[in-house]
Amino acid sequence: MKRHILITGGAGFIGSHVVRRFVRKYPDYMIVNLDKLTYAGNLVNLRDVEKAANYKFVRGDIGDRELLCTLFHEHSIDGVIHLAAESHVDRSIRDPLLFARTNVLGTLTLLQAAREAWEGASAGARRFHHVSTDEVYGALKDGEAAFSETTRYDPHSPYAASKAGSDHFVRAYHDTYGLPVVLTHCSNNYGPYQFPEKLIPLCIRNICAGELLPIYGKGDHVRDWLHVEDHAEAIDEVFHRGRDGESYNIGGINEWKNIDVIKLLIRIVDEELGNAPGSSEKLITHITDRAGHDPRYAINAQKLREELGWFPKHSFESGLRETVRWYLTHEQWMTDVTSGAYERYYEEMYSGRG
Ligand code: NAD
Ligand code: DAU
Repeated sequence: MKRHILITGGAGFIGSHVVRRFVRKYPDYMIVNLDKLTYAGNLVNLRDVEKAANYKFVRGDIGDRELLCTLFHEHSIDGVIHLAAESHVDRSIRDPLLFARTNVLGTLTLLQAAREAWEGASAGARRFHHVSTDEVYGALKDGEAAFSETTRYDPHSPYAASKAGSDHFVRAYHDTYGLPVVLTHCSNNYGPYQFPEKLIPLCIRNICAGELLPIYGKGDHVRDWLHVEDHAEAIDEVFHRGRDGESYNIGGINEWKNIDVIKLLIRIVDEELGNAPGSSEKLITHITDRAGHDPRYAINAQKLREELGWFPKHSFESGLRETVRWYLTHEQWMTDVTSGAYERYYEEMYSGRG
């Protein structure tokens, strides 16, 4: 069936994998990627699909009501996969208002646009998929059962609170106006194209440069790591086959202490660079802990497995090695996304092309 899907935040880390997957796998679909191109959004992430006939990029803000109204009508949008967000916890601690504006008000504006555009039409194939996070569930203690879809919301960081707020609006639009929605709550992602402020790409970059590896506190905080392509696959499954109004947890069944992730990364990067084993361990530097740092996240993804047959395909060690190799062979990408070169690329690529 022909579909017209609006993907928001498609120039970011996870969004670019979702866009690439949909553009390639569904040639009959029209994929419209709406992205504001903040520091985290880069069109170089999508160079390999940017000329595809079933792909269109629009630079804009999810908070821009008029633009959304135009997009829904001009492109007959019948599905939304909403990833656009401010995504970094440390930034949310410095600028919580930005997170409320983008993640809460931006999502609300998008929901309202979908509601207005789809009013009166039968739900049919229409669907609003909100890509959320496991951080809305708060924190687990050692030995406590992993988050399930019925775990009580208990967000701690401004980022988590803003994603929880947006989830509540998504549910409210479903329960009040009958908007067809699904929600997914995913654990920590890793893989190519992740902006080097997040733990794994930051450490790969710093090991290569011989710079310090900043570990918050003792490094005994636990995260459940999932390869980004496994996440994109799960989004594909839930968007197409998830039950209306339901939430699905997505996770790697792959809990690691931060310090152990860093040691594994050091081993892999040193091997790949031909350094003496463990030679980068001296770079590990324990620094002041993140405020409100959640000690442990772990996901129970049983519902997704039982209902839709999804399970993670990448093993952590081989996924990490492949990720390290990607970063080692994409030094220019790293330079571009952390310098003004990206803005120049955007100007050359899109100026005057609408
Ligand atoms: P990211 O920061 O890499 O990308 C976010 C994208 O959103 C960027 O391209 C940015 O330009 C765009 N954006 C920001 N504000 C916008 C606005 N107002 N209008 C339009 N576009 C805007 O984020 P990510 O890590 O790829 O995360 C994507 C989504 O997945 C987020 O909603 C995040 O909460 C969620 N998520 C992330 C993870 C993870 O581990 N990274 C895990 C679970 C859920
Ligand atoms: O759980 C899903 C979430 O995972 C997503 O919703 C967020 O968008 C995403 O950013 C990620 O949040 P985290 O805060 O868990 O990811 P981050 O890479 O920032 O940190 C991972 C762990 O590493 C966390 O316990 C904090 C720690 N850390 C992080 C950085 C950047 C450090 O010890 N040092 C660092 O420099």
